Amino acid sequence: MSKTILITGAGGYLGSLLANALATSVSEVRLILADVTPPAAPSNAQAIAIKTDLTIPKEAHTLFQTEFGVPDTIYCLHGIMSRGSEDNFDFGLKVNVDSVRFLLQAAREHGSRATAPIKFIFASSLAVYGGSLPEIITPSTIATPQGAYGMSKLASELFINEFSRRGFIDGRILRLPTIVVRAGAPAAATSAFMSSIIREPLRGLESVCPIGNSLDSPELDLSVWVASPETTIKNLIIAKDIPADRFASHSRVVYLPGFTATIREELEALETVGGKEALDLVKFKDDPVDRRLVLSWPAHFDLSYPLSLGFIQDVGGMLPIVQKLKKDMEHS
Ligand SMILES: NC(=O)c1ccc[n+]([C@@H]2O[C@H](COP(=O)([O-])OP(=O)(O)OC[C@H]3O[C@@H](n4cnc5c(N)ncnc54)[C@H](O)[C@@H]3O)[C@@H](O)[C@H]2O)c1
Repeated sequence: MSKTILITGAGGYLGSLLANALATSVSEVRLILADVTPPAAPSNAQAIAIKTDLTIPKEAHTLFQTEFGVPDTIYCLHGIMSRGSEDNFDFGLKVNVDSVRFLLQAAREHGSRATAPIKFIFASSLAVYGGSLPEIITPSTIATPQGAYGMSKLASELFINEFSRRGFIDGRILRLPTIVVRAGAPAAATSAFMSSIIREPLRGLESVCPIGNSLDSPELDLSVWVASPETTIKNLIIAKDIPADRFASHSRVVYLPGFTATIREELEALETVGGKEALDLVKFKDDPVDRRLVLSWPAHFDLSYPLSLGFIQDVGGMLPIVQKLKKDMEHS
């Protein structure tokens, strides 16, 4: 049972949700929370918050030398998102590849004296897919990314697979769907609009949809593979408890369950929950870079393998997700 858990990117959206979820679901957990922006520690768990820039090679080692000792599980969640990586190629490589390698090396060195290799759970993305793809993605579909973000996630996946094959770590690579609806401020992700076209109008604010030019645009029928934050956090926690021998012998990669939603379905859910006045707050400004990246991502997956490992899926489509967000906003 995991007791000492390191989360990198713990100051970010998923990292902070995960820290809180682990604090309530794992008894006597000890959390080491690391981020370049100081992470907040949950009040109901033993936690150490560390401000660190993981692109500096020696910084990774400090995360294994706290009073909590060597963690048995690492969630590697820090990163630069899709549009950020596309617009700043060198910086994206530094954060999404170089710093992950530094962390892997540190986990290899510090974990070598432990009874079992450290579990290394990595947040990858469906952006590793692109180019000519089958109608339905299966575990054997080859990933050929068409953007800097997907390429850097795939590069890190290769390191994690090889480190696992050698027994240096016990890797679990999760290709996450796009998370909707992400609370908080807009992210530097190409897919961020999938959240902001719901979240901002429900707050009474205007939001720009970068796909299509009006509510009648055929581009709104573009499909995206999405999952709710709640389901994704549950799946991140499930990932640490799957026995290593349940993964396919040649790869630690799993795409997480999600569901297919079109932008139009999202806007319909927005109108149902927030009314026409909320829908009218969505403005359109077609962005060719965003459109190219979103179009390169697949939206249909065969879920047999992830479900067989015990991962879970959202039910009911977009409407319950938007209803829950509205309820949360009313209570915050
Ligand atoms: N949210 C999604 O829809 C989604 C989808 C697929 C994959 N992912 C992946 O999941 C992970 C978490 O996503 P998120 O939505 O919480 O992102 P986020 O941007 O909210 O959090 C990422 C965190 O990483 C930190 N970070 C960046 N550079 C760092 C560095 N050099 N050293 C230390 N910390 C650094 C940032 O400060 C930030 O707090 C990311 O790796 C992302 O690529 C997210």
